[in-house]
Amino acid sequence: MTSYLEMNRAGWDRRAIAHFESRFYDVDGFLAGRTSLREIERAELTDVAGKRLLHLQCHFGLDTLSWARQGAICTGVDISPVAIQKARELAVRAGLDAEFVCSDVYGFKRRSPQPWEIVFTSYGAVCWLPDLRPWAEIVTTNLAPGGTFYMVEFHPIHDLLAGFSYFTRAEPDVAEEGTYTENGADVVARFAIWAHPLSGVINALIAAGIRIERVNEFAFSPYNCFEGLVEREPGRFCLSHRGQDVPMVYSVTGRKVA
Ligand SMILES: C[S@@+](CC[C@H](N)C(=O)[O-])C[C@H]1O[C@@H](n2cnc3c(N)ncnc32)[C@H](O)[C@@H]1O
Repeated sequence: MTSYLEMNRAGWDRRAIAHFESRFYDVDGFLAGRTSLREIERAELTDVAGKRLLHLQCHFGLDTLSWARQGAICTGVDISPVAIQKARELAVRAGLDAEFVCSDVYGFKRRSPQPWEIVFTSYGAVCWLPDLRPWAEIVTTNLAPGGTFYMVEFHPIHDLLAGFSYFTRAEPDVAEEGTYTENGADVVARFAIWAHPLSGVINALIAAGIRIERVNEFAFSPYNCFEGLVEREPGRFCLSHRGQDVPMVYSVTGRKVA
């Protein structure tokens, strides 16, 4: 298992460099004052100002720093040292305060005695994790009693239609591919990904002590990062399957049982 995680870390190190330079992530727009957060999480995760927010799998920190701009006191965690280095540089350039920790999410240990009031994770996170039970334990261990867990993630039905497993298997799907940004065709790396059905995500969170308050599904992705998507409205990328809308994204809001 360690070698799969190591392989993924090496791939994400390469991607972080290309992503930072890409129009897709639009670092210049962020530095000019735009948020990188999308309409779904902006609408569903509100009142972050003054709250301690832990962002798991934060990549190079754009979303973390966008929450910081809204007044959250942020910590971002990612396995890629290159991404974390870029995140720290970006924080300095943006004049924003945030802590960035390089760690495998499974090995993440809180250094401060104070737990977080919000744990956030988003788009393209759980597929890198072989087992969601210890991940959900990390969520609850780090969350204050009564604190909010919020995730927004690509829908596994879309993965199924793209040829990946729907149900979790012990062995991951391993693929060699370029990355999804417009400058990424040559940034080829091998990755191991694990499928997680909605029930697997929700049951792992419940078992770890999260009371689920809301689950939503969306017929659009706010990112144009898969083959064949059509932008039906600005910032809403959709896919049809046999004439029907494909669920592209889901979100889960929960609270740590006090
Ligand atoms: C698609 S990106 C997430 C992007 C996210 N939407 C954001 O906030 O920018 C996935 C991230 O997960 C990280 N990652 C993958 N496996 C991980 C692990 N085991 N522990 C911590 N981070 C991991 C990668 O380094 C990468 O930055």
